Amino acid sequence: MKILVTGGAGFLGSHLVELLLQLGHSVTVVDNLSTGFAHYVPQPAQLIVHDIRDPLESIFHENRPEVVIHLAAQVSVPHSITDPAEDASVNITGYINVLQTAARFGVCKVIMISSAAVYGTPQVLPLTEDSALAPQSPYGLSKMVGEHYTRLLCKQYGMAYTILRPANIYGPRQQTEGDGAVVPTFLQCFAVGRDPIIHGDGDQTRDFIYVEDMARAIVASLKAGDNRTFNVGSGVSVSIRDLWHRLADLVGWQREPLFGPERPGDIKHSVMDSTEAIRTLGWKPCVDLSHGLARTVEWWQSR
Ligand SMILES: NC(=O)c1ccc[n+]([C@@H]2O[C@H](COP(=O)([O-])OP(=O)(O)OC[C@H]3O[C@@H](n4cnc5c(N)ncnc54)[C@H](O)[C@@H]3O)[C@@H](O)[C@H]2O)c1
Repeated sequence: MKILVTGGAGFLGSHLVELLLQLGHSVTVVDNLSTGFAHYVPQPAQLIVHDIRDPLESIFHENRPEVVIHLAAQVSVPHSITDPAEDASVNITGYINVLQTAARFGVCKVIMISSAAVYGTPQVLPLTEDSALAPQSPYGLSKMVGEHYTRLLCKQYGMAYTILRPANIYGPRQQTEGDGAVVPTFLQCFAVGRDPIIHGDGDQTRDFIYVEDMARAIVASLKAGDNRTFNVGSGVSVSIRDLWHRLADLVGWQREPLFGPERPGDIKHSVMDSTEAIRTLGWKPCVDLSHGLARTVEWWQSR
């Protein structure tokens, strides 16, 4: 299949492209390298360094993709708060440009990577796809609006779609900058001999999904889940304190954890119900937290 991946030079994108190539697909990556890296894009995928807000016609004309997988995004929640217009220009306006160009060039299906941030603070756990959407940041809002545009424009233009809402993704190649993801933030601190700060009491919980499991959910959506929206998580609730101890053990960190003030607006607990994805996509998470963290630490130590 000819597949165009926006944001394919990023953390998740690079794992996805690797998997698509292994499966024999022909892959074109469109990425402006704002947070991605050219060397993350494996051969023989073609990298086109380009901003999704700029005209995309010639790229679609030359590559004629059958499927578009949309990952390119302004991914930083803090940045979305300081510059909501920039966030919206990438995550909404840029994405509309992708959708319209895809329709014009006869793309059959769009797979949009949304986020658990569309839910805001969960009222009931675990989160199901029917849980209320109440984003608490411009990032969550722009992802929610992107979802609505997907449903509306794909219907209007006759394209199939699947929307995936990932939990917290972690794994090799994840950066500390940007969205301030907790796993690389802790590992970066350990690497330079600095104590990572656990905000609050550390009892807050999250759902962590290994990046290769996430990439497999996207691949499963190539052939299933048309016109549906799915949560994609491990379904396992892990406290930040537990995460700290697991990582500290793996890197051989000797000191006790340091705690800092709770961050205003931080969600206390979040875990996803991915039953629908498991049932419909024929997918399930395969890499448990201990193996996923071990592989992540191995990558950090090999850098
Ligand atoms: N990492 C997570 O925990 C997580 C959780 C939920 C959803 N997501 C979503 O998954 C997708 C991938 O995120 P990631 O964690 O790999 O982050 P990432 O920053 O590594 O990847 C985003 C990619 O998009 C590219 N990009 C950004 N703006 C662009 C633009 N205007 N034009 C072209 N390319 C542009 C970046 O250069 C980068 O390669 C994003 O849509 C993100 O919102 C990630």
